[in-house]
Amino acid sequence: MRTILVTGGTGTLGRPTTARLRAAGHDVRVLSRRPGPGRTVGDLTKGTGLREALDGVDTVLHLATSQSRADVAQTQNLLEALRPSGIEHLIVISIVGVDRIPLAYYRAKLELERLVEQSSIPYSLLRATQFHDLVDRVFTAQRFLPFLLAPSMRLQPIAIEDVATRLTELAGAQPTGRVADIGGPEQHSVGDLARLWRHAAGSRRPIVPLRLPGKAFRAFARGDAMTGDQTYGRKTFADYLADSRATEVDR
Ligand SMILES: NC(=O)c1ccc[n+]([C@@H]2O[C@H](COP(=O)([O-])OP(=O)(O)OC[C@H]3O[C@@H](n4cnc5c(N)ncnc54)[C@H](OP(=O)(O)O)[C@@H]3O)[C@@H](O)[C@H]2O)c1
Repeated sequence: MRTILVTGGTGTLGRPTTARLRAAGHDVRVLSRRPGPGRTVGDLTKGTGLREALDGVDTVLHLATSQSRADVAQTQNLLEALRPSGIEHLIVISIVGVDRIPLAYYRAKLELERLVEQSSIPYSLLRATQFHDLVDRVFTAQRFLPFLLAPSMRLQPIAIEDVATRLTELAGAQPTGRVADIGGPEQHSVGDLARLWRHAAGSRRPIVPLRLPGKAFRAFARGDAMTGDQTYGRKTFADYLADSRATEVDR
């Protein structure tokens, strides 16, 4: 059994990960800016509460994100607090293709990966593809348009439960540096994903392909956000849509 601090444990990925870690018998506390049961209050941007949160901890899962470049400063603050703590294992989540796709957020992720690699802290680094939830949110955000925009990109979305399972496996193992990237069981064009989403939403809106300029979108179109032949987990985007829509009906 390990004593684990999960940064971002209240987030989309953090919640199922924390549940799995607890089910595996670990002693888990969650770092959050807001108090609550099982939480310890701290702020990665301000660097407050981190030493206290790390007291007695041997493993840290770093899943917090500001969804911006501030992830670099957050990670820097975490590493500074970790250095004197004698921690045994830092596990970090990143995104498949951060070294191939020139998006500002991906550059920040790559920079924080380098900080972790260059620190003297034993670590494991897992890159995952886009979560099903993110793809769903991108289409849902277009609900006021009379059509559904589908950028010419290829994606291999993954279930957060599958990412959580892999993180839990890593938490029970020794630090191994960068581990194999994980991506979901199917690779799709965004047009395919839009058709699946439209079907689940019972919508008949036309799907409009969108060709975007720039290196980043060319990289997404080439499939640089995917894991090649490697797939992980069994839950497809269609399964995710069926589950999440069934939950909505049950509510
Ligand atoms: N979304 C994707 O498709 C995808 C794909 C691959 C990898 N990832 C990576 O997976 C990780 C988790 O993403 P997610 O979608 O689960 O994130 P999320 O739902 O946006 O959750 C963000 C978490 O970060 C915490 N946080 C933010 N600022 C903080 C601060 N200043 N101090 C302490 N905690 C802070 C929040 O905690 P409180 O609000 O409770 O303080 C929250 O738990 C990220 O690193 C992301 O880049 C995401």
